[in-house]
Amino acid sequence: CGIVGYLGHREAYSVIIKGLQRLEYRGYDSAGVALLNGGLNVYKKKGKVADLHDFVKGKDVSSNIGIGHTRWATHGEPNDKNAHPHVSNSGKLAMIHNGIIENYSSLKTDLIKKGFDFKSDTDSEVFINFIEDIYLNSGVSLAEAVRLALNKVVGAYAIAIISLEDPNLLIAARKGSPLVVGLGKGEFFLASDATPIIEYTNEVVYLEDQEIAIIKDGHLTIKSVSDVEMTPYVQTIDIQLEAIEKGGYDHFMLKEIFEQPKSIGDCLRGRLQAKEGKLVLGGIFDYVTKMVNAERILIIACGTSWHAGLVAEYIFEEFCRIPVEVEYASEFRYRNPIVNEKDVVIAISQSGETADTLAAIELAKSKGATIIGVCNVVGSSIARATHAGSYTHAGPEIGVASTKAFTAQISVLTMMALMIAEKKGSLSESKYRALLFELESVPDKVAKALLLNDQLEEIAKVFKDARNFLYLGRGFNFPVALEGALKLKEISYIHAEGYPAAEMKHGPIALIDEEMPVVVIATKDSSYEKIVSNVQEVKARKGKVIAVVSEGDTEIPKMADYVIEVPHISDALMPLIAVIPLQLLSYHIAVMRGCNVDQPRNLAKSVTVE
Ligand code: G6P
Repeated sequence: CGIVGYLGHREAYSVIIKGLQRLEYRGYDSAGVALLNGGLNVYKKKGKVADLHDFVKGKDVSSNIGIGHTRWATHGEPNDKNAHPHVSNSGKLAMIHNGIIENYSSLKTDLIKKGFDFKSDTDSEVFINFIEDIYLNSGVSLAEAVRLALNKVVGAYAIAIISLEDPNLLIAARKGSPLVVGLGKGEFFLASDATPIIEYTNEVVYLEDQEIAIIKDGHLTIKSVSDVEMTPYVQTIDIQLEAIEKGGYDHFMLKEIFEQPKSIGDCLRGRLQAKEGKLVLGGIFDYVTKMVNAERILIIACGTSWHAGLVAEYIFEEFCRIPVEVEYASEFRYRNPIVNEKDVVIAISQSGETADTLAAIELAKSKGATIIGVCNVVGSSIARATHAGSYTHAGPEIGVASTKAFTAQISVLTMMALMIAEKKGSLSESKYRALLFELESVPDKVAKALLLNDQLEEIAKVFKDARNFLYLGRGFNFPVALEGALKLKEISYIHAEGYPAAEMKHGPIALIDEEMPVVVIATKDSSYEKIVSNVQEVKARKGKVIAVVSEGDTEIPKMADYVIEVPHISDALMPLIAVIPLQLLSYHIAVMRGCNVDQPRNLAKSVTVE
């Protein structure tokens, strides 16, 4: 979910609605605002922020203080009544909440006994009434009531509260869900990330877990839930407005796909200088020895980041000769994993806020492991929870389906592997040097792969009505097959599966008939001959083969129905190139099917609930 709040001299509604649009990638089941203007006006609606905006047209939105929310449903289906903000029984307090309150049902039972009633099925409505109960019955200030309540709720939250009794008061708090306070001239902003704030100010304070921000009469006070006053740490952020706008593209996803030569370039910049034989990731510099001596590297992530982790497994094992295990964060955290001080954990997360990944990090940390982060969002919770790490510097990624973050993650992980390999001596000097040059050539090769856009649009026309897709790859390209399949199912709702090509004969081959498109990543690498045989197996069953091959290949084009030629690069770096046509294919198919590419149904970009 996304949260926005405003208190200052502007019309709060415009700041909030624009902010919600910027945060919509975090959830878009329903949206709402609460504004104070002598009374408390709450408008909420199932659907997108635009639906809320239409609904509000003609209504009174004059106010200098307000809160707004765009929701990704957890408790209670997405509908008008479950949308936020939620109002307390007295009608005085309005709250927006991102997260989950685990003990809401016992709190609700107690409140019902005390005479409270509830209009929605949400844990959030329980939360605000719980605060109200303390506020009305213990004679403390609202801020103090919030603090006392936070000591009793179990779960995760980012909240913002306004009160009819005081139009100069805005209260916020966080635990496990991000919250940023923006500091303007005589005005304050609240948001789940900095994107709604940057057009007004670049001075921000990231709230820490268990902190409460009290904005009252033009002044910000930060307190811990245990009542210790904290000095706000004001940071200047460097995000340009263009980076979070579509810049002429139809969709953020397409813009982000096309940004990849630049985003990968930004990721390598200042870190890699092939000619000088230099490669330095400053963020992990002090930890390289620890990584060289690791008995094992554990990679923890979710979704597309997990796929980047799988690519990294092949790369680390090949270059560094260190055993690697790649784990879904959600599985790892709940199975009493065996971890010790000799393990190095690499946690990968675009948003840096994924709840399962964060919890898995805390678990591994408690068992003594060293944690290295690979995050895109600077200052995010995961980036802060790790011992060290390297940012991917891909710039804000808004499209829900991850594209440029994926290639930047692989770029960082490749640099990490090369740094370790160099220190460890597990790669020959000449191979190491050659790889530096190759890595440096990736942005140009990605730019070349993007020239395939028109061809992929044509292929998309042929297959847009398919009901299933199979994606096959081997070696370094196996994770690319998984990622290609994920991209397609996420945004076009076509069922797709990624498989190691050889494993196909143990099941998926039964699905193949003349209706079945099979995307095969068959670039010239050490498993090329093997994958040629796999393509033949598909053709023998009349499947339609769409093959991604290395430029100049003559063998596969004889068998495949459609051939996509990508620039050649060595095996380990091919995922960075081979994934480009797959991103474009899924994009065009989704557009042709009329799907909402940037905000696919049921998904959210940043999953801050487990
Ligand atoms: C969500 C997003 C995916 C993303 C995954 C992990 O499911 O929709 O695109 O890969 O979370 O997110 P993270 O921010 O941790 O990389």
